[in-house]
Amino acid sequence: MISEELFNAWYAALEQRHLKALTFQEVRHALQALSSLYVERRQQSGAGKALDSAGKRAAFSLFYAALHLLEVSYVADQLNLKDFPIDSLTDLGCGTGTGGIAWSLELGGSVPLTAVDQNTWVLEEARWNFRQLGVKGEARQADLARCSLPPSGGVLLAFTVNELDEAARGTLLQRLRRRRGQGLLIVEPIARRVSPWWDKWAEIFQKEGGKEDQWRFTPPMPERLRLLDKAAGLDHRELTCRSLWVAPACQGVTSEH
Ligand SMILES: C[S@@+](CC[C@H](N)C(=O)[O-])C[C@H]1O[C@@H](n2cnc3c(N)ncnc32)[C@H](O)[C@@H]1O
Repeated sequence: MISEELFNAWYAALEQRHLKALTFQEVRHALQALSSLYVERRQQSGAGKALDSAGKRAAFSLFYAALHLLEVSYVADQLNLKDFPIDSLTDLGCGTGTGGIAWSLELGGSVPLTAVDQNTWVLEEARWNFRQLGVKGEARQADLARCSLPPSGGVLLAFTVNELDEAARGTLLQRLRRRRGQGLLIVEPIARRVSPWWDKWAEIFQKEGGKEDQWRFTPPMPERLRLLDKAAGLDHRELTCRSLWVAPACQGVTSEH
């Protein structure tokens, strides 16, 4: 799990970066708008709208991406991902890169990480996050509906599968299944309403040796992140998410899974 010290130092730098151009109140206001988009799911393809203003982009980076770092880090720790020596990582629909960073840090930070997203703003933010958190990563633009998947290495999909339309999700599923034997981690919110495809994916990947879990935990958080949460009328003191983990086949595992 990412250390409290590293997370806090990163968060302080991130806040400084974003509060150069925007006030705390503007970010709070944008976070409220972003959160209604995510929570109410007024439209399925929320990604475009979610990042359509400077305020929402800052709110995504400072709030949701920070929580995703804590969540993927917790999941990676609980699943003992450090015991699976993967030689490369690909973070699909990476956003600002924090999910891939969490997995990479679990492996020591030097495993080559490729972060892929269609949005150029998040890719720039991901590059900054790699530098700040000391992770060896590159970020490139591609559409998940079309891009090829790496033949080997670990693949992460954190809070992204739901952003795809049904056709893109269907082809992605087929392509992921063809990678049989490679590591795959999918993380999503628990609400079934948000991810109606989850049960089918869970059934398929569990038949292929995967593991489904739900998580609930209360991580330490920097005061300023708590303040943003509270000021926006949200309450994320306790974090929840669920995961699907398919371990890479035939690799040295040093503890029970
Ligand atoms: C909710 S965000 C999650 C980002 C990141 N994985 C995280 O955990 O913070 C979903 C991301 O998926 C990206 N995305 C959505 N559809 C995509 C597509 N077809 N191709 C590439 N990226 C896509 C969006 O641009 C956005 O950055």
